[in-house]
Amino acid sequence: MNPPEVKGRVMAEAPEGCRIDIPGPFCLTIFGASGDLTRRRIIPAVYRLQRLGLLPEGFCVLGAARTGMDDRAFRELMREAVRAAAAEGFTDADWTGFAERLHYMQIDYDVTGTYRRLKRRLPALEKRHATGGNRIFYIATPPAVYETIIENLGRAGLSRSEVGYTHIVVEKPFGHDLESARRLNAGLGRYFEERQIYRMDHYLAKENVQNILIFRFANSIFEPLWNSRYIDHVQITVSETDGVGHRAGYYERAGVLRDMFQNHLLQLLALTAMEPPSVFEAERVRDERVKVFRSIRPLPLERLEEHLVIGQYGRGRINGLDVVGYREEPGVSPESLTPTFAALRLYIDNWRWHGVPFYLRSGKRLSAQKAEISIHFRPVPHLMFAEEMEERIEPNTLMLRVQPDEGIRLVIQTKNPGSRICLTPVLMDFSYRKALMMDAYERVLLDCMQGDQMLFVRADGVEESWALLTPILERLASVRPGVPNYEAGSTGPPEADALLQRDGRAWMPL
Ligand code: BG6
Repeated sequence: MNPPEVKGRVMAEAPEGCRIDIPGPFCLTIFGASGDLTRRRIIPAVYRLQRLGLLPEGFCVLGAARTGMDDRAFRELMREAVRAAAAEGFTDADWTGFAERLHYMQIDYDVTGTYRRLKRRLPALEKRHATGGNRIFYIATPPAVYETIIENLGRAGLSRSEVGYTHIVVEKPFGHDLESARRLNAGLGRYFEERQIYRMDHYLAKENVQNILIFRFANSIFEPLWNSRYIDHVQITVSETDGVGHRAGYYERAGVLRDMFQNHLLQLLALTAMEPPSVFEAERVRDERVKVFRSIRPLPLERLEEHLVIGQYGRGRINGLDVVGYREEPGVSPESLTPTFAALRLYIDNWRWHGVPFYLRSGKRLSAQKAEISIHFRPVPHLMFAEEMEERIEPNTLMLRVQPDEGIRLVIQTKNPGSRICLTPVLMDFSYRKALMMDAYERVLLDCMQGDQMLFVRADGVEESWALLTPILERLASVRPGVPNYEAGSTGPPEADALLQRDGRAWMPL
């Protein structure tokens, strides 16, 4: 039965002190400026920040990519991109003011001469737009050229600016395994200090993901229950209805464990499980997230199938439309073994979480688009209603909905009106008002401009998460899974259900 809903609401307007500070002036150079990420996420985010009045007077964007085009062509390309991404928020008047700040230069990532040209071009733009020498380099290219760009920026003397700051943003995937992540960190470390480096995980910047810590540590009523004494298990689900789309080139090499688990799902796990830091400050929060990774019990590789289920989608129906299987997607090998789904059981070996399983699942082409963390509390210790009740009492569940319809839901038991003792689960449902929300890319860009690294991943964090996954990935490379094993539009392979059923539990419905 679906519990009836009790709608919550935000009780007050944001207080004065919560207003967002406008950052100082800056020049944002985007490598990979003709690519998909720049068009879909980065430029629309900068545009929206300006519309919201959150950008300073002095700023400019320099797009850099292999494609040959001039400023005018780049502006036209971005105009279409912004129009598509921010349909209702697009006006010609806003665009004209914004477009004047967009510039472009063709760049060959591996030719050192182009970085010298970049070095000469930047001061002219900085003067024209009064950006105060503050520089952000955003690497949004295919990962194969990350190291080359970092090395060439460093060699050209672009890792420091004489006046102002220099920050470097590195998109995911950060490495392909532990060794490549270490190499990338070492390459960055040769020229940049850690305080200059912003490793992206856009999940950390989602409004309700940030709220996990506030919910846990700014309310006194939940934290005393947040441990193995009261919590039976935790589920973290990120399910997508989309397929691989046009990203087969990348995805074929990555698969769901690299694409979603190494970063997004493990970061969600870290925020759910971490200890309270002594202060709410970037380094202390990042320390605690890393400690969680260090406490995760490595999976027994010889019995991996008892803890991990992988899958790949076949044909099926999504939202009433027939869709092809993964192996039929453009650019995917017809014999591909790349997993598009994984479900995983992990344990965190510390006092707080002793014996509490964390079930993580993520997949493409599933029946629903959602990201949610659910905390499943233990049942009441003594069932005094046993005689009256025909069914067992459902234990309380707390759901932290990351998307869509961001909010918090708590399932509690209430008495049904009438003389018989009959319990009904009721949903206490709190929803964030959409209007207050900032998109994850807007948030991270703003934080990078303000020099706040809390929502970014530190070198040790990225290495610890790869240390956890790399042995699993290596082991999987030597097994030939029977895929495809789930239909597009379903909830994933049946083995994923069995993973929980064996423990006497069930997944939250998608
Ligand atoms: C990206 C992955 O990091 O996150 C994609 O590479 C995935 O495969 C995406 O679709 C999901 O992000 P969001 O914000 O749409 O949930």
